[in-house]
Amino acid sequence: MPQTTLEVKSLTKAIHGKKIVDDVSFGVQKGEIFGLLGPNGAGKTTIIRMIVSLINRTQGEVIVNGSSLDGQYKEMMSEIGAIVENPEFYKYMSGYKNLLHYARMSVKKIPRERIDEVARLVKLEGAMNQKVKTYSLGMRQRLGVAQALLHSPSLLILDEPTNGLDPQGIRELRDYLRQLADGGVSVLVSSHLLSEMQLMCDRFAIIEKGKLIHISSMKESLAEEDLMNVAFEVSDAKAAAEVIESSRPGTEMEILDDTHFTIRIEREGINLVNRLLIQNDMDVYGIGRVAATLEDRFLEITSRSEEGKKIDLINL
Ligand SMILES: Nc1ncnc2c1ncn2[C@@H]1O[C@H](COP(=O)(O)OP(=O)(O)OP(=O)(O)O)[C@@H](O)[C@H]1O
Ligand SMILES: [Mg+2]
Repeated sequence: MPQTTLEVKSLTKAIHGKKIVDDVSFGVQKGEIFGLLGPNGAGKTTIIRMIVSLINRTQGEVIVNGSSLDGQYKEMMSEIGAIVENPEFYKYMSGYKNLLHYARMSVKKIPRERIDEVARLVKLEGAMNQKVKTYSLGMRQRLGVAQALLHSPSLLILDEPTNGLDPQGIRELRDYLRQLADGGVSVLVSSHLLSEMQLMCDRFAIIEKGKLIHISSMKESLAEEDLMNVAFEVSDAKAAAEVIESSRPGTEMEILDDTHFTIRIEREGINLVNRLLIQNDMDVYGIGRVAATLEDRFLEITSRSEEGKKIDLINL
């Protein structure tokens, strides 16, 4: 049986009667990197803030290592390391002094060697004696992760950890998160970029308008991508659908109007269907991929800013 480090049950946040997080449930296993994926404003930060008790829950439960957060706040918080939004530091103190200060405030006793250890892990050991005001954004991010890790939490929560990191920094973050997960730490990260999550996470949940609309492992979601929804504009959609049905019985199709239909096929199938229609004297005026499956829909929502990942929604 896999051990569940974090369990979130029916988490809900309503502000002025509007649910900005609506009945969200998921679990993060020991040693797993789990992603919260969704566009800006989806509710990712709000979910994280409720998990770490920065804001009240309207409804729902948060269970860490089998114990509910309610009533055992302090014990539970010592199990969690988190960065929510930008971590605050004393700018005129060195990275090392910042970590030392934080270590002294911790409920758990933190040996000095642990500071060196986390600094090494986030590849900041060379800059520990530099004042934080001289740090780049990426270095501050790393110091934040180091701080969150100081008390050896079993659950690390990072809200948009790659913000401000360059590709090299993102790669290193990925590597040390994996290293932590291999060592048994559970990691919850949020992002609005699918490509980033695909490389970083074992599983992810898609959050859209406060609701969890899909949970899957990377393997499943990649396998499902083989089939796509394709729209055709033709002279006679009904006749075209009949031709396709007789040649490829059981193919999933939907007639939209007199001249448009969609079909769920693999990539090679697009060409085959096109040829089939032309061989049967049908005029084809347009072909395009449409977002219809959850993955496609997710891509459409989240990949707009990503080069080469755009879904072409063709206006037929
Ligand atoms: N205190 C608040 N009062 C009113 N609305 C809020 C409050 N906090 C968050 N919201 C709204 O809730 C929604 C979710 O916000 P949240 O910050 O959780 O999104 P997010 O997924 O983290 O987005 P981003 O990717 O931009 O960080 C947004 O529409 C936001 O405007
Ligand atoms: Mg956010």
